[in-house]
Amino acid sequence: MTQESTLQLPAIAILGAGSMGRAILQGLLAPQVHVVAGIRITNRRPEAAADFDTEPRVSAWVTSTNVDANREAVRGAAVVIVAVKPADVEALLAEVAADLADDAVVVSVAAGKTLEQLQRAAGDTRAVMRAMPNTPAQIRRGVTGIAVGDHVSAAQRDLVESVFATVGSVVVVDEERLNALTSISGSGPAYVFYLIEQWEQAARELGFSHAEAALLVRETVRGAAELVLASGEEPEELRRRVTSPNGTTERAIAVLQQAHLAEILDEAMQAAMARAREIAADS
Ligand SMILES: NC(=O)c1ccc[n+]([C@@H]2O[C@H](COP(=O)([O-])OP(=O)(O)OC[C@H]3O[C@@H](n4cnc5c(N)ncnc54)[C@H](OP(=O)(O)O)[C@@H]3O)[C@@H](O)[C@H]2O)c1
Repeated sequence: MTQESTLQLPAIAILGAGSMGRAILQGLLAPQVHVVAGIRITNRRPEAAADFDTEPRVSAWVTSTNVDANREAVRGAAVVIVAVKPADVEALLAEVAADLADDAVVVSVAAGKTLEQLQRAAGDTRAVMRAMPNTPAQIRRGVTGIAVGDHVSAAQRDLVESVFATVGSVVVVDEERLNALTSISGSGPAYVFYLIEQWEQAARELGFSHAEAALLVRETVRGAAELVLASGEEPEELRRRVTSPNGTTERAIAVLQQAHLAEILDEAMQAAMARAREIAADS
């Protein structure tokens, strides 16, 4: 999508406009996106809806004052994004199933909820998909993995890809790989934040102020990420170029290698995937 072109989208409902629901909403409110038949969002608490009182493109419904809020929001919507906690997904789908438009596609962003579970809750022939965005979606720099259910048409799949492309990059994968993708990009921002935290702590211990440590580490992370993207080079090659034989960087990298960083990352991904399987099995 170029700056100049406008992406036209049909009516979209976001059930559960919390952190992730609102991140997706930000993409739909971008100037170059036009949701022709409007955006509908739901929450439980009225306070959450009040933020949209002055936003004409968004109709906000609240379940605490209207028990039919979710059912009303999905009527006529072509895409229904379910962004409540995983434990609440199936009850919500059962609640709205009879009100979904015939050609609506339901997209759950809930971690660990399988297509089979979604299919059962939304109806046997319903078009259902899973999406796994990450929090940089808030600044339209997200990565979203998408898995497509059996009854989804090519047009519905393209439509859902366009919706998530408003908040960053989209990768379509088989469902088997979605839990692995979740452990990489879904949880990934937290790994980077943790690295930044620890690295800044180390910088403070070397005598830098909080502000100096934050600037040094955060701008280094930004600069390195932008360099690897802009250069098209492999990270290994970029690392080689800043690692002189017997130099300072080589010593530091050796310490990270001796601490088995690769194995630690592998273990962290496995733990995240095991938890995704537990979430699916728990419900
Ligand atoms: N946050 C992430 O990084 C991330 C990444 C990928 C996927 N996800 C998935 O996104 C989903 C939401 O996570 P979150 O972090 O955005 O949680 P959250 O901030 O707690 O948002 C959940 C929202 O759902 C609303 N809600 C709950 N039950 C509802 C109902 N029956 N009808 C209408 N609205 C209802 C809540 O409204 P009230 O606040 O009014 O109660 C709240 O706004 C989860 O399934 C999670 O696995 C999250």
